[in-house]
Amino acid sequence: ARGLDFAERRVLISAGPTFEDIDPVRFIGNRSSGKMGFAIAHAAARRGARVMLVAGPVSLPTPDDVQRIDVRSAAQMHAAVLGQLPADVYIGAAAVADYTPREPAAIKLKKRPGQDTLTLELVRTPDILAEVAAHAQRPRLVVGFAAETDRVAEYARGKLVAKKVDLIAANRVGVAGCGFESDDNALSVLWPDGGCELGPAPKGELADALLDVIARHWASR
Ligand code: C5P
Repeated sequence: ARGLDFAERRVLISAGPTFEDIDPVRFIGNRSSGKMGFAIAHAAARRGARVMLVAGPVSLPTPDDVQRIDVRSAAQMHAAVLGQLPADVYIGAAAVADYTPREPAAIKLKKRPGQDTLTLELVRTPDILAEVAAHAQRPRLVVGFAAETDRVAEYARGKLVAKKVDLIAANRVGVAGCGFESDDNALSVLWPDGGCELGPAPKGELADALLDVIARHWASR
């Protein structure tokens, strides 16, 4: 029994994909379902936290006792997350686009006879996780996710250092039964001087296990 070990803690969570508009009918998205972030929001609320969930475009119901802000693009997610600081814990579980079209077209792009290729110019989006970790109102614990297809632990450890976060939860995507769209997942959780493996398990169970790790880190700071 975990009881209400997150009572009175303000937990800010981002979840889901972002959609970056190309024109009024097309966008660049990704395969994040939002299930992991929503499961963490649900578990944190059950453990007594005051949970704010910033959700990209997903069709998932809001867990009980969770407040929710819906956004579409990386720019909107950035504004919503920073607008919700201060918080005690930030968990960046969203799959934020790294690049977005420089200027979405106001009207639908048409294919032209003889035009066999089309080049879209993309610009970098703000790194929400790194900004939260460097913010004047930095939450006591900042937790990032890393979805990798290969060299999972190596890339995740690099992210931990580069983004100056306290914990990185890394999952392997592109493997059947894990990661995006799946109900199950397995996480390698890393911190500067250690790490642990969680799962494979249903995302609900994994959410509680990740919160256990967060609670231990909270206590030791
Ligand atoms: O570098 P990478 O995108 O793989 O890092 C993943 C982590 O960074 C996730 O926690 C994700 O939510 C966060 N992120 C972000 N803003 C971005 C890109 C990634 O917050 N623009």
